[in-house]
Amino acid sequence: MHILIIGTGYVGLTTGVVFAYIGHEVTCLDTNREKIAQLQAGKAPFYEPHLDELLAQVGGRMRFVSSMEEADLAHTDVVFIAVGTPSLPDGNADLTYLRQAAESIAEAMDDHFLVIVNKSTVPIGSGNWVGTLIKDAYEKRNGKKVEGKFAVVSNPEFLRQGAALHDSLYPDRIVIGSENTHGVETLRELFKPILQQNFTPPAGLPRPEGLQEVPLLVCDLTSAEVIKYAANAFLALKISYINEIGHLAQKVGADATLIAKGIGLDSRIGERFLNPGIGWGGSCFGKDTAALVATAKDYNLAMPIVQAARDVNYHQRTWVVDALQDALKILKGKRVALLGFSFKPDTDDLRDAPSLDIARLLLQRGASVRAHDPVALENARRLYPDLGVRYCAQVDEALEDADAIVLVTEWPMYRELDWEHIKPVPLVDGRNFLDRERLSALGFRVIGVGR
Ligand code: UDX
Repeated sequence: MHILIIGTGYVGLTTGVVFAYIGHEVTCLDTNREKIAQLQAGKAPFYEPHLDELLAQVGGRMRFVSSMEEADLAHTDVVFIAVGTPSLPDGNADLTYLRQAAESIAEAMDDHFLVIVNKSTVPIGSGNWVGTLIKDAYEKRNGKKVEGKFAVVSNPEFLRQGAALHDSLYPDRIVIGSENTHGVETLRELFKPILQQNFTPPAGLPRPEGLQEVPLLVCDLTSAEVIKYAANAFLALKISYINEIGHLAQKVGADATLIAKGIGLDSRIGERFLNPGIGWGGSCFGKDTAALVATAKDYNLAMPIVQAARDVNYHQRTWVVDALQDALKILKGKRVALLGFSFKPDTDDLRDAPSLDIARLLLQRGASVRAHDPVALENARRLYPDLGVRYCAQVDEALEDADAIVLVTEWPMYRELDWEHIKPVPLVDGRNFLDRERLSALGFRVIGVGR
């Protein structure tokens, strides 16, 4: 099939390369010409494991354009909208890019049937909104009814950054939300190799053992939109729940990592997303929980559980700084090393990264901050040049004469550091990741989360 993807962020580009890999012809459209030029040169505009290799492998089945004219909508079967929907200050999502995408489709549409898929996380009701935008724009331009010429489908994305290709090739489920039978059947056909798992896995991305087919849920459009938010909010509150239990554990002398194991072995609860730590960051959990609360408000509903998950999460960042203050007594004039700056390993993404708030709070309290990260420093220098943090390309430079250390991101390299030759100081292990016993034996005062 011929697919057009609007937006070349994590979702759009990963979706595109995976469709090309399983045999479809894919065009990626982004109005950011710089990004397109980079992609045309074979380079992804962000760091994601295996992405550059897969882009090279799919070669001519994928092309990159910066305008709808070049995109050739007349020969397209399915359009995926995968544009950004960043948070507005009130928690609602900014739909400017979604509107632009919808209107540009309506401008270029001819009379062949088009399936239009919302892949971005869009506010509940956006499918209908996109449908209306397209209908109005088409009818105004062509002076005739658009009935029967397109269908809007919601196909939410559940990929994790850092594991984006794995999650797209081997998803836990695929959700297709639409009332239009042709739309649903087209997507079922498009996803067939993924649903049936009958493609040869790419190098470095083996199929999980035992995976024979991927479950498909077909539902109405609105339910699909809510599924995306409800899934992210549930994962977010699982993390906040264990962090809340962690505070109690610390008071009573228990260990939240053991508690997580003990409750996670109950198959009704499950062990994943129960790691106590400095909480979630990234482009989704914060934005989506805020949007859910804001949407509920439009309907005169409160969402106290989701709101509490947010409060607990952002409190973790202050907790780190309080724990350091307890250990050092005075933060003013102290030097703190942050190990890791991205919101999680295997990505250079800094959106809603706990590191940023931790650094800000430390600086406010008079400490100086040095930070290391194996991939995110370029973004940090570009996006936060005035934060007041010294960005260190070498981990030794970040650790030099440090009065305290915070492990912010669990990059494997931090386990392998030459800890014997690092001055033992108070160390907050924000992800309960390091070898606590070994470090304690070396004289570090290790402060874990919830232990
Ligand atoms: C998330 C969802 O997992 C994905 O399904 C959705 O499509 C987008 O949002 P992502 O933000 O890429 O993906 O990363 P994820 O691996 O889910 O981690 C999110 C944050 O939670 C990270 O900051 C991570 O460090 C934190 N986390 C995760 C915890 O603090 N504890 C855990 O147990 C798991």
